[in-house]
Amino acid sequence: MRGALYQYLAGDHERLDSLFQRAIATPGEIDAESYHEFRKGLLRHIAMEEKIVLPAIARWQGGKKADIAERLRLDHGALVALLAPPPTPSILLTIRSILEVHNELEEREGGFYELFEGLAGDEVERMLAQLKSAPPVAVLPNNDKPEVLDAAKKVVARAGHEFKVAS
Ligand SMILES: [Fe+2]
Ligand SMILES: [Fe+2]
Repeated sequence: MRGALYQYLAGDHERLDSLFQRAIATPGEIDAESYHEFRKGLLRHIAMEEKIVLPAIARWQGGKKADIAERLRLDHGALVALLAPPPTPSILLTIRSILEVHNELEEREGGFYELFEGLAGDEVERMLAQLKSAPPVAVLPNNDKPEVLDAAKKVVARAGHEFKVAS
């Protein structure tokens, strides 16, 4: 089922995609301002899914988590970890490759967002208001310590993804 909740969340994917595209628009350069907006927006998007969408689904299913919950959580963990070190072409390539698969799981027919919308029933308006008023997430500056990047690579591997090296 695709209504207001689906549109809001899928629309946020689109908005984040265009910020990402703007961040990498000039070859060999990362546009700092677009990257910052992308990072801030993706952290808020993930927080909405973790703190609003997943708990609502579990509540509506009588305490049973969405089947896809664990898969999504692993991806979210990998994405958040990749946003900690300063962005590099390899990090951005890896983020993009994770998001391509991840967003499809959420948007596809019978996927996560349709499950959410389908279960919402008469709570659609209330959920939409909650999503829209989700606060921005506190964003720390990027951390350039090598161990932060190493940790991110481990989280990516544990989530079953490959750390892509940009050529
Ligand atoms: Fe997600
Ligand atoms: Fe999403």
